[in-house]
Amino acid sequence: MGAPLRPDASSREGGAARPALSERIRVATWNVHEEAQRAPYLQDLLGGRLDATEYALLVAQHYVIYGAIEAAAAVNDDPVVAPFLSPALDRAPALASDLEYLLGPGWRSEYVVAEATERYRAHIDAVCRDSGPALLAHHYVCYLGALSGGQIIGRLIVRVFGFEDHHGTEYYRFPDVPSPSAHKDHYRELIDSLPWDDATQQALLDEILVAYRHNTDVLLELGRLVPQTLPPSASSTLDADT
Ligand code: HEM
Repeated sequence: MGAPLRPDASSREGGAARPALSERIRVATWNVHEEAQRAPYLQDLLGGRLDATEYALLVAQHYVIYGAIEAAAAVNDDPVVAPFLSPALDRAPALASDLEYLLGPGWRSEYVVAEATERYRAHIDAVCRDSGPALLAHHYVCYLGALSGGQIIGRLIVRVFGFEDHHGTEYYRFPDVPSPSAHKDHYRELIDSLPWDDATQQALLDEILVAYRHNTDVLLELGRLVPQTLPPSASSTLDADT
C-alpha cells in the first residue's frame, strides 16, 4: 500500500478542495499588497531620494502602530491567538532605538505622527484588545510584512543611507528569530490550523484588508508630507534648462 495522503493545508468541502487559509489570504491581498508597495513615499525612500529625517518619519509611524499592536496583544486573552504572539517579534523597543539614533536623545518630543497613523492607532485600540481575529489580522499584516518585504527594504535602506552596525534599522532585524523564512512558514501553519469557523475566518480576512488599507493610507500621507521629489534624471534635465 502506498503512503497515506498527508493531510495538507487544504480542506475538502462538498467534494471540492479548498486552498488553505494562508493561501486564500495571500491571494485575497495580492492587489492591496501591490498598492502598498507602489506608494510613492516607499519608492522615493528606496530610490535614495529622501534624507534620513524623512526616513525617520516612517520609523515614527511604525513606532506608534507596533506600540499599539503590542499593547493590545498584552491585554488580549484569546488563547487561539497567543501562539502567534512570540516576544521575539516585538518591534517597539527596536523602533525606539532607531528613533533615538535618527532624531537624537530628545526624539520622544520630536517625532511626527501623521493623521492616518492616529486613525490607525485608534482603530487598533478599538478592535484588537478584545477580539482574537482582529488582533491576528493586524499582527499578520505588520509582522509578517516585516519578516517578508521588510527584509528586502531593510537591506536597501542600509545601502541608501550607509548606516552601520544596524543603527537606524533595528526594526528590520530579528536577533531572536534565527530564520525569518522558517518563522513565516510556522506562522502560516498556525494560520492553517486555526479552529475558527467560516464566518470567523472571513472576519479575519476582512480585517486583514482593513489593516492593509490603514498601512497604505499612512504611506500615502507620508508621500504628501515629504516635499515632492523628482527622479534624478528628471531633476538634472530641469537643472540643464535653468
Ligand atoms: C517596497 C515594499 C515591499 C516589498 C518589496 C515587499 C515584498 C514582499 C515579498 C517579496 C513578499 C513575499 C515573501 C515570501 O513569500 O517569503 C512579501 C510578503 C508580504 N508583505 Fe510585502 N513588500 C513590500 C511592502 C509591504 C507593505 C507596505 C506591507 C504591509 C503593509 C507588506 C506586507 C506583506 C505581508 C503581510 C506579506 C506576507 C504574505 C504571506 O506570505 O502571507 N509588504 N512582501
